[in-house]
Amino acid sequence: MKIDGVAYRSVWVEEDGWSVGIIDQTRLPHAFATLTLTTASDAARAIRTMQVRGAPLIGAVAAYGLCLQARADAADAALKHAYDELLATRPTAVNLKWALDRVMAALANLGTQARAAAAYAEAAAIAEDDIATCRAIGQHGRGLIEAAAKRRPADRPVNVLTHCNAGWLATVDWGTALAPVYMAHDAGIPIHVWVDETRPRNQGASLTAWELGKHGVRHTVIADNAGGHLMQHGRVDLCIVGTDRTTAQGDVCNKIGTYLKALAAHDNGVPFYVALPHSTIDWATGDGVKEIPIEERSASEVTEITGRTTDGRIATVTITPAGSAAANFAFDVTPARYVTALITERGVCAASREGLLALYPERHRPARAAG
Ligand code: MRU
Repeated sequence: MKIDGVAYRSVWVEEDGWSVGIIDQTRLPHAFATLTLTTASDAARAIRTMQVRGAPLIGAVAAYGLCLQARADAADAALKHAYDELLATRPTAVNLKWALDRVMAALANLGTQARAAAAYAEAAAIAEDDIATCRAIGQHGRGLIEAAAKRRPADRPVNVLTHCNAGWLATVDWGTALAPVYMAHDAGIPIHVWVDETRPRNQGASLTAWELGKHGVRHTVIADNAGGHLMQHGRVDLCIVGTDRTTAQGDVCNKIGTYLKALAAHDNGVPFYVALPHSTIDWATGDGVKEIPIEERSASEVTEITGRTTDGRIATVTITPAGSAAANFAFDVTPARYVTALITERGVCAASREGLLALYPERHRPARAAG
């Protein structure tokens, strides 16, 4: 996607041919700054501190982290150490393990001399796969926005509500939930996005609002609690969110607060769609509420808030009384029954085991022979 006319991806190999460039997302929206990663530990730090975030992007950056390790020392023990360090950065998004395993599998049968080149080739393939996948999600999701455009009153745009940031900053390019929005906008469909601010880290207010603005998509940032009210008053035509892990039965784990939006959508008959690439499906998991590990982050993300002062300084202030405890659950699980449909690179399907298997038939497990 473009920033002020210049095409960017959210991760890239620098001109030296080996170091890895990222956009430091902790500086947005007040400053656009890039960073260069040169070690696997740099990549792990960038993921842990959320300089890069979003399930597909952390997978891609972790893959490049293994490349940096393979370039420095490609012995089995060194790679395993980097793998463990990268995997430990964030527990919920399954794309992280998916990408790390893909690179490790590509290196497994190679001698150490050949491993760095093979790792870079695999990481590049993961990045290209993500771009193609998100583009296809955008094409499939655009049809749902077109259908909503036909149902809405002619005098207003289609109103989409989204939560957190599942745009191009969260993937390598295009995004998941926002790819259909960009494609609808580019096709000339009048569209407006309600952007949940997404406390405590404000990915909506700082990242989604920024990237929609850079692309010229009309949007309004709302407090996280406003969505239900807007839905009751017919001001949301459809919701589209991303996901960090979707189970084989269609339960959707995403940024904290997603579940409450799904409940409000259900109560008001508003379609609630979840956009995801194949790399986000955890085929080994069934009941998302019981089985998905939910990341718990520092309480300071709840007790403090960072922003720009009127004189241009970036400042962090405390918003809670001294001594109040705070808890910071980063994700929640929306049971499949509240999800209208999943938007994948292979098409739109029911949020169910049958729906997913219809699109991914290769995941069918052969029935066990009787006797
Ligand atoms: O904690 P974050 O910012 O990494 O959480 C991101 C989300 O919850 C996104 O919705 C999800 O990763 C899908 S990104 C295409």
